[in-house]
Amino acid sequence: MARLNVNGSEREFDAEPDTPLLWVLREQLGLTGTKYGCGIAQCGACTVHVDGAPVRSCVLPVSALQPTQKITTIEGLSPDTSHPLQKAWVQLDVPQCGYCQSGMLMAAAALLKDKPRPTDTDIDAAITNICRCGTYNRVRAAIKVAAGETRAAADAGIDVVHVVRSA
Ligand code: FES
Ligand code: FES
Repeated sequence: MARLNVNGSEREFDAEPDTPLLWVLREQLGLTGTKYGCGIAQCGACTVHVDGAPVRSCVLPVSALQPTQKITTIEGLSPDTSHPLQKAWVQLDVPQCGYCQSGMLMAAAALLKDKPRPTDTDIDAAITNICRCGTYNRVRAAIKVAAGETRAAADAGIDVVHVVRSA
């Protein structure tokens, strides 16, 4: 058995070393919020965080990960969908079919962690995810709404970007 730290918990799984992280998350750990789109690191539907950085889990073999690295999936972004991005997504009715949206949210969360006041250029550079429903304008608007809330929370000393589900 191999081990990974996922959403704050140590999880065991049994998979070949070259198995992409996406399939361990979905099929072994039951975390189906992370989606499969292209399988070639192009669409971003499979985006999760490894130590806070966005990665495309469809092309990341589990053998490249250490048990000490912290993996966060959409299920671990907040314990109760209270992340500023999740609230902004609801406020602005961002999703259409929804398939790409967990990847969008994870990419956006990583962006706000690094750039709490992202410009349009920052957003365009960071959010390269593909949405067949064309939600790009609402994604951009929601990131800006969330950035406002993120700044307010940061001013109050609350780490809103790294709230993860506890064991
Ligand atoms: S499924 Fe991983 S980038 Fe498309
Ligand atoms: S909301 Fe449908 S693919 Fe993005």
